[in-house]
Amino acid sequence: MKLVFATNNANKLAEIRSLLPDHIELLSMKDIQCFEDIPETAETLEGNASLKASYIASRHGYNCFADDTGLEIDFLNGAPGVYSARYGGPDKDAEANMDKVLEELKGTNNRKARFRTAIALIIDGREQIFEGIIDGSILAERKGNEGFGYDPIFQPKDREESFAEMSMDEKGDISHRGKAFSKMIEHIKKSY
Ligand code: IMP
Repeated sequence: MKLVFATNNANKLAEIRSLLPDHIELLSMKDIQCFEDIPETAETLEGNASLKASYIASRHGYNCFADDTGLEIDFLNGAPGVYSARYGGPDKDAEANMDKVLEELKGTNNRKARFRTAIALIIDGREQIFEGIIDGSILAERKGNEGFGYDPIFQPKDREESFAEMSMDEKGDISHRGKAFSKMIEHIKKSY
């Protein structure tokens, strides 16, 4: 079965390709000549994942999946959430995003947060949503140099290190995205 991953992120593609069974042929957007900027206009992670997967399924006629991730901070009533990529400005700048979060949390002890990933999978016109969550807290300052995005200021629950102090494999074993993809892969292995 051919399956498109609606992402332009080469790292995510490689990671998923290595986890899928051999009879699933994973295709990128480039592989199917899809160069459009797919709109992400929904107000939830599930909604955006679904928009992206539906776009490929309906316009290009492929089975497909898409993911969307957000950092949800209790003290900020769930922000930045679905707006995580552009929280500090339109440039999707990780440093500006972290500066804004650190500033907004200055002086509070309520630093609870979680990363949440939603995946929408569409096979033969049927859609299923998979979710992965990692609970943790926002540090008072950056720690570590690995990873990307908000990793230097996020410390998973019951761990001493921030995400940015973990190797990619270590993070992948416990992360929001790792959990959501494991659920989807289990489902694909069982059903197809
Ligand atoms: P996306 O949906 O995977 O593109 O993620 C949206 C935004 O959430 C990214 O631009 C990052 O700012 C943030 N983000 C997603 N996943 C992670 C992660 O694993 N660590 C840190 N930040 C992340």
